[in-house]
Amino acid sequence: MIMRCDIITLFPDMVLPVLGQSMLKRAREKGLLEVIVYDLRDYTRDRHRVVDDTPYGGGAGMVIKAEPVLCAIDALRGESGEGGHASLRILIPSPQGRPFTHQLAEELQRDPRRLVFICGHYEGFDERVPLGLNAEEVSIGDYVLTNGELPALVMLDAAVRLIPGVLGDPDSAQQDSFVDATLDCPHYTRPPEVRGMVVPDVLLSGNHEAIRRWRRKEALRSTSVKRPELLQDRLLSEEDRRLLEEIVHEKTNRPSVLCVEEE
Ligand code: ADE
Repeated sequence: MIMRCDIITLFPDMVLPVLGQSMLKRAREKGLLEVIVYDLRDYTRDRHRVVDDTPYGGGAGMVIKAEPVLCAIDALRGESGEGGHASLRILIPSPQGRPFTHQLAEELQRDPRRLVFICGHYEGFDERVPLGLNAEEVSIGDYVLTNGELPALVMLDAAVRLIPGVLGDPDSAQQDSFVDATLDCPHYTRPPEVRGMVVPDVLLSGNHEAIRRWRRKEALRSTSVKRPELLQDRLLSEEDRRLLEEIVHEKTNRPSVLCVEEE
């Protein structure tokens, strides 16, 4: 199934080059992704193509006007080739939004609707944009960026790489961090020694089961050291529980999340 996506932006030149590189380029070339970029200024009606205005009630910053955004959505519905009835999932990148996670990336990848990202700037949109469009606000983290283009591209990239056939090796998306709520394990490539640092023997052993177990253990070690909260309140498989116990008893990189009693 092809993923269809629209990006409404004040900065098409910020978005277009990213769509022409790496995974997003590959997905488009393979016919698995279609992206249309709309310049919000094309949907203004005044000579100066003004998209923003001062906030009612006073205060700092400028607010993006509702009308150009609503017109852009009307135009997009008209162009979608289904008599304006194509169903849209409208997303507004915003620090006030619901947190973007791997689960939401999966949800976007599976969603049959057109994904429409409306990228804001300044102090955000007139509230009648999200209200009138029943849009979802989504945040990529607890910090404030200058505008919504980078967050929209982050979300699109995270979703697109999950489309079957986009990644060269179908297993790589499956092995990524967060797929099963753990971080990825460490990776090594040639040569076997770099400035005195060597590749763990097991990876050179050719023993597939030992390698699988080592990778799982190191993923759990990395998670317990770097992001212990990911393991909290999680149901662990019998193997994961045993591997975590081994990690605790190794005493190095002792995970802070575990409270397994010492012998
Ligand atoms: N726009 C500005 N900051 C943002 C953030 N953290 N996430 C999503 N959109 C944003």
